[in-house]
Amino acid sequence: MSIPMDLRLNPYPWYGEMLKHSPVAYNEQYGAYMVFRYDDVRSVFQDYKTFSSALYDGLSEELTFDSQIQALDHPRHTQLRALATHAFTPKAVADLEPRIRTIAGSLIDAMLTGQDIDFVKQFAVPFPVTVIAEMLGVPEKDFERFKHWSDIIVEISERLLTGQTEELPEHIAAYRDLKQYFQSLIHQRRTEPQNDLISRLAAAEADGEKLTDLEASNFCSLLLVTGNETTTNLLANLIRTFAEHPEQWKLLQRNRDLIPQAVEEVLRFRTPVQLMFRLVTKETEISGTKLSPGDRVAVFLGAANRDPAKFERPDVFDITRPSGPHLTFGHGIHFCLGAPLARLETSIALQVLLDRIEAFEIPAAEALEPLTSFNLLGLRKLPLAIKFK
Ligand code: HEM
Repeated sequence: MSIPMDLRLNPYPWYGEMLKHSPVAYNEQYGAYMVFRYDDVRSVFQDYKTFSSALYDGLSEELTFDSQIQALDHPRHTQLRALATHAFTPKAVADLEPRIRTIAGSLIDAMLTGQDIDFVKQFAVPFPVTVIAEMLGVPEKDFERFKHWSDIIVEISERLLTGQTEELPEHIAAYRDLKQYFQSLIHQRRTEPQNDLISRLAAAEADGEKLTDLEASNFCSLLLVTGNETTTNLLANLIRTFAEHPEQWKLLQRNRDLIPQAVEEVLRFRTPVQLMFRLVTKETEISGTKLSPGDRVAVFLGAANRDPAKFERPDVFDITRPSGPHLTFGHGIHFCLGAPLARLETSIALQVLLDRIEAFEIPAAEALEPLTSFNLLGLRKLPLAIKFK
């Protein structure tokens, strides 16, 4: 069964059908069994022994994702994650709060004084990249390159996962550049440590073991690339969703205590990462469909988050909904390490916007442009007409 591509802006009616009639179905394009139901998706994440994350092994000579934390299995994953967690602490995130607020404020002020507002270009893209780059301690002059690298990495992983293993020269060149860039920064921070995340990663130690230059560099690129793209899409989805639900924006204006719930509801309602893959390692079954070693599964987080068996009125966007256990950041041993940062950035963005904006809408003439990929739900462009306070 193939995925109807014209549903990239709104895959939810299709998910509704699949949840009801075909909760597990094979997809030729991905070469994988698609899994939609909440309980099934959660079980796949939970059972990391049967459903491996080592998806990229042996797919490509040059474009290797080995020693990338999200593509490793236990026990190496556990060791690397312990080291990374040690460096990427909640305190390091919380300490950055005043800086994150300043960055958000100045980007939003610049956006609001301009003529043609494009929320994606002027805020959703530069905000997370600026925050993580500051956290890591990379120079501002290099920010432009990150966006390029980020796009390339997303493209590479998608091509590999859909079986297009041919190595394109521009991908190889960008991938090498990115690796070299971070390896030399790591190297430098080993000799001259500073008060930044790169230095903490370079020094992080567990059981007497340090991250290798390659592992530390891969972790930096993962933070820079995966974390940015996803947060950009979350921010775009947030504004798109409130533009379509002005009564919910008004409610939030009246009651700012709802901000944390509003962030969780957007995460559930329009999930930035729609699907993730796993590799089957032993005979198993999901909702009656038998799977064998070597089979791949694509778990649809976006569908699981709208499963009526788990969420009441799942297609209603309601910021007063009690924050439930959505699967937007995954579940289990690979649960998103950047979730506290993404949540903090999004609530700060909301606060800054609520301070300045009375109401806003997407101008009717402007059609929303979906992303090229089905795996991520976001927008390429989000024009806004704004009524200021
Ligand atoms: C809305 C924003 C975000 C979403 C929706 C998101 C989603 C996810 C998901 C679904 C996973 C699980 C991967 C799997 O099970 O295979 C994951 C893992 C991860 N995320 Fe995020 N993420 C976001 C933001 C971030 C940020 C801001 C960072 C860091 C700056 C980050 C860093 C990571 C890392 C390092 C992992 C791998 C953890 C592991 O394998 O143990 N993410 N993320």
